Amino acid sequence: MEPFYLKLLEDIRLSLKQSEIPTDKKLQWICDTLCNQLPNYDWAGFYFHQKDKDELYLKVFCGEPTEHTHIPFGKGICGQVALSNETFLVPDVSLQDNYISCGITVKSEIVVPIFVNGKNIGQIDIDSHTKSAFDQNDVVFLEKLATEVAQLL
Ligand code: SME
Repeated sequence: MEPFYLKLLEDIRLSLKQSEIPTDKKLQWICDTLCNQLPNYDWAGFYFHQKDKDELYLKVFCGEPTEHTHIPFGKGICGQVALSNETFLVPDVSLQDNYISCGITVKSEIVVPIFVNGKNIGQIDIDSHTKSAFDQNDVVFLEKLATEVAQLL
């Protein structure tokens, strides 16, 4: 991972240790921090699996509000990650089948699953207004971040 990402991950890790802050606030703070610190991160949100339904719901986010607050498993990039349990990097959303658009400004996307006790319980979703905005650094950074987030849940 590039030094900037390493430092950011460490800063986030330290901030999350503040036990008096409610989890929802921590998740919102992570979204805001990602959008503020990483220029290509134009939208960042956490989707979680509904309890009794094969559907994701949007819990917190930063960036433009989206109408896609509920996504069935299998639909779009997010819905596919709910089933595949694997990080999904989309360099160019216009070339992607089974994609749910959150606006014409979005050009690339990355979705990383969050595992608690080996179970996929949600995901971090990042959109960018730049094509090919994400690379292996983002994959490693966000997968490590997902591990940190899992410890809050
Ligand atoms: N593009 C996503 C939908 C969620 S938005 O990016 C906020 C998808 O295809 O699942």
